[in-house]
Amino acid sequence: MIKKYRFGDPFETEAVVENIQAEHGEPKFGETSIDNGFSFSYMMDEDEIVYGLGEANRGINKRGYRYVSDCSDDPNHTEDKVSLYGAHNFIIVSGKTPFGVFFDYPARMTFDIGYTKSALLKVSCEYADLYVYVIEGENAYDIVKQFRKIIGRSYIPPRFAFGFGQSRWGYKTKEDFVKVLRGYRDHHIPLDMIYMDIDYMQDYKDFTVNEENFPDFAEFVRKMKEEGVRLIPIIDAGVKIEKGYSVYEEGVQKGYFCKREDGSDFAAAVWPGYTHFPDVLNKEAREWFGSHYRFLIDQGIEGFWNDMNEPAIFYSREGMDELKSYIKEYVQETEDVSPWELGDRVRNLANSPEDYKRFYHCVNGKMIRHDRVHNLYGYNMTRAAGEAFEKIAPDKRILMFSRSSYIGMHRYGGIWTGDNKSWWDHLLLNIKMMPSLNMCGFLYSGADLGGFGADATRDLVLRWLAFGVFTPLMRNHAATGTREQEAYQFEDTDDFRGIIETRYRLIPYLYDTFIKAAENNDMYFKPLAFEYPDDTFAAGVEDQLMIGQEIMIAPVYTQNAKGRYVYLPEEMTLVKFTRDNHYTREKLAKGHHYIEVSLAEVPVFIRKGKTIPIVKVAECVEKLDTEHVEYQGCDN
Ligand code: NOJ
Repeated sequence: MIKKYRFGDPFETEAVVENIQAEHGEPKFGETSIDNGFSFSYMMDEDEIVYGLGEANRGINKRGYRYVSDCSDDPNHTEDKVSLYGAHNFIIVSGKTPFGVFFDYPARMTFDIGYTKSALLKVSCEYADLYVYVIEGENAYDIVKQFRKIIGRSYIPPRFAFGFGQSRWGYKTKEDFVKVLRGYRDHHIPLDMIYMDIDYMQDYKDFTVNEENFPDFAEFVRKMKEEGVRLIPIIDAGVKIEKGYSVYEEGVQKGYFCKREDGSDFAAAVWPGYTHFPDVLNKEAREWFGSHYRFLIDQGIEGFWNDMNEPAIFYSREGMDELKSYIKEYVQETEDVSPWELGDRVRNLANSPEDYKRFYHCVNGKMIRHDRVHNLYGYNMTRAAGEAFEKIAPDKRILMFSRSSYIGMHRYGGIWTGDNKSWWDHLLLNIKMMPSLNMCGFLYSGADLGGFGADATRDLVLRWLAFGVFTPLMRNHAATGTREQEAYQFEDTDDFRGIIETRYRLIPYLYDTFIKAAENNDMYFKPLAFEYPDDTFAAGVEDQLMIGQEIMIAPVYTQNAKGRYVYLPEEMTLVKFTRDNHYTREKLAKGHHYIEVSLAEVPVFIRKGKTIPIVKVAECVEKLDTEHVEYQGCDN
């Protein structure tokens, strides 16, 4: 049962697609207040678990910390961080009377879940203009399914997008891409995609290709595809300010960029230097920006990743001017000057809340200050692409995922979880985040496997890939300047091959499970408690996940571990996929077990009475022989 409440004058985010009439009165659970902004308070029982919040820090159970929905370009996902790139305002309180709440509010919102007071759940925001949806159901899982239904079907990517992809910020020329292709093919490690980061463009200009490095781009795209590999270019939010650059000229002329209060185009520096932001919240501007993806689609491109769309700002003209005058004063002062303040001033230049108040969107003829709708930018940039794809290639599935997002964007694309690091902790964070993302509709998702920032070690990449076997988006991506972490860069590539091959053997099962989840508003990854609601031990397990109806996974995420402890809520068959297309299997009783897992193995637990199809390996998804399926499951 779903009830909708309206407070003040909400912005229509279009996160919810089902038409629900707003109720009079107040939500039955907790207390709401509209004095001094909006707040919702609820006293939690000791045993209640709070799920949700999608792309957020920490655990599956969100209790004990605070989280702020405020899409942020922050590459340091340390435990203290309260905001990441997405804003997914849906929580489920799971206890005696379970309920879910979606706060459809596009600006900054705080979820204090037992941080200030351990029993108090308090959700608050500055303006009391929002919709609140309250969902009652049998249990948390049921509530998620009801919620997913009202926000519309999740994006389904093309089949090749379930293949493995390699990425690195730094591939520049045709030769760099061919080298990656050869690296994989020569080592017989399957590969379906190579991602093109910002260096493929001409001076970081969206919808351009550097012609010197790619003399005949369409032909290159075609040749790579012949080898079974799709090139997936990045698109950034900011459009470079440059005379003669057609996207810029057109945008200015048509008035499609975000404006300052005085009506001039707002300028912010990102990779290309100063840029303008396309006003993707404005329908016409959104259509216009989306139409430009055709430039690459016409050259054979079948997938994209949308980046820097919080939108990230290195500095604005205003911010830079303020800093310059501060520094001028600073160097003239001889006394009482604090080096800390200088450092802070420079650091705070990027993604400054002040800048988000300096520009406006034009929505249905009304000017709306950006900070009031900040969390909708990435959503609408991706929506621009998704809506355009329906026109440009109506019969085709195009791969699309974004860095920043809001609920609603899940209908147009997936997400990757941004700039993590080559840290074991971030492998664990990746495991815990996946089911929360699914609760909010983001099914096609994954992290930068091996870690984006910092230097990766061989064992970390192997363990992370072994988890990545199961994430719908399976992509190894790294930052420029870090240790090279393509699978063929390390000793004994057979181990890497074995793991990536396991993914390919499972693709028919995984893709099918994914499609079922999308079509039935279901989850692909679930916490154990969703499948075993009466098992009190399962409720506390955060490092094992259920996939579909058939399997459970328990990835190893600590260095030097020879294996790990696993809890089985029922009897299961442990299948260990090993190198050279082998596997072993062993029936295990319900309860606790220590299982050994070498660096080259991928363990899967198959539930009692279930089977999953396994196919023969191929170098890319298109070459998989799905006709001849070898069945694997429990032996009874
Ligand atoms: C930030 C993105 O998060 C990262 O994945 C990308 O490599 C860099 N931008 C450069 O484009």
